[in-house]
Amino acid sequence: MKEIKDLNILAIESSCDETAAAVVHNGREVLSNVISSQIDLHKLYGGVVPEIASRKHIEKINQVIEEALKDADVTLDDIDVVGVTYGPGLVGALLVGVAEAKAIAFARRLPLVGVHHIEGHISANYIEHPELKPPFLCLVASGGHTHLVRVRDYGEYEILGRTRDDAAGEAYDKVARAIGLGYPGGPKIDRIAKEGNADAVKFPKAHIDGAEYDFSFSGLKSAVLNYINGCKMKGESFDPADIAASFQKAVVEVLVENSMKAVEDFGVYQFAIAGGVASNTALRAAMEKACGDKGVKFYYPSPVYCTDNAAMIGAAAFYEYLAGTRHGWDLNAVPNLKLGER
Ligand code: KG4
Ligand code: ZN
Repeated sequence: MKEIKDLNILAIESSCDETAAAVVHNGREVLSNVISSQIDLHKLYGGVVPEIASRKHIEKINQVIEEALKDADVTLDDIDVVGVTYGPGLVGALLVGVAEAKAIAFARRLPLVGVHHIEGHISANYIEHPELKPPFLCLVASGGHTHLVRVRDYGEYEILGRTRDDAAGEAYDKVARAIGLGYPGGPKIDRIAKEGNADAVKFPKAHIDGAEYDFSFSGLKSAVLNYINGCKMKGESFDPADIAASFQKAVVEVLVENSMKAVEDFGVYQFAIAGGVASNTALRAAMEKACGDKGVKFYYPSPVYCTDNAAMIGAAAFYEYLAGTRHGWDLNAVPNLKLGER
């Protein structure tokens, strides 16, 4: 891989409900990271409404990019590459970022690098850990994905396991809604679980025969919903903090068990987590302990780089650029883009 000095990437992310832009220097130094969240709008509906998301991205994107350039104290003259998430995600939302990135790259005659959203989440770990280099294993757990990924090299991924149904974050959001905590539920469950008894209710943990790295959270989610409905029907009260803590324990145990199985099987010495759920305090603590017991170095990004942001897309775009990835003006949003496809 050739050495490139002083490369500034303008990165854009709009795959879900965050309009984000960042300027990243040489893949690891974040010069700016601007995120405009639409959470307050979607909260009213209990989840992300795709049509509203696309419209909001259009309204915000120019302002977010201008702010990212200003915060980094650069102009477009200082930008060398434009990186953008082109999948997976909501097609209308992705299209806004892709069209914007193409317009800037075309007008400024800059190379355009499309990035896979999950590759971005994984690459968030490079930002604060200059020593982290592949190979390593990474658990990506967000509102849309739960993947256990083997990072063989920069840009080279093998998916070892994935969720068969709901993503971990999705389960958090649905359970939070059921216990009346609102959207997005992950951070709220994380908070109230600290006051609850994690052994109050024994919820099921799914392990899939013959696919030991795969996950399943819909059974657990249904068990929690059934438990709540059962209490309501019997006129019994339940403690939301106990339910949150018991649910969280089941999620965290499965995430850690499958991850540690892969750590053993592949003999890796570095393990990372990424995605919105990676900011969960119980998950971090349990992974830290499990990795420590095995003598494996554990990496995790700061919360701002766990949930959707453009700095992580800039980090991923840098390594894609070095590997020779260039996209043309026909780059399109790919809502079901597979990891590792270019
Ligand atoms: O990565 P992200 O911002 O968006 C996707 O790519 O999906 O992840 C958002 C998800 C939501 O489901 C949210 O509830 C969850 O991450 N999340 C958390 C925490 N913070 C965010 N889940 C558990 N604990 C948290 N502290
Ligand atoms: Zn994400």
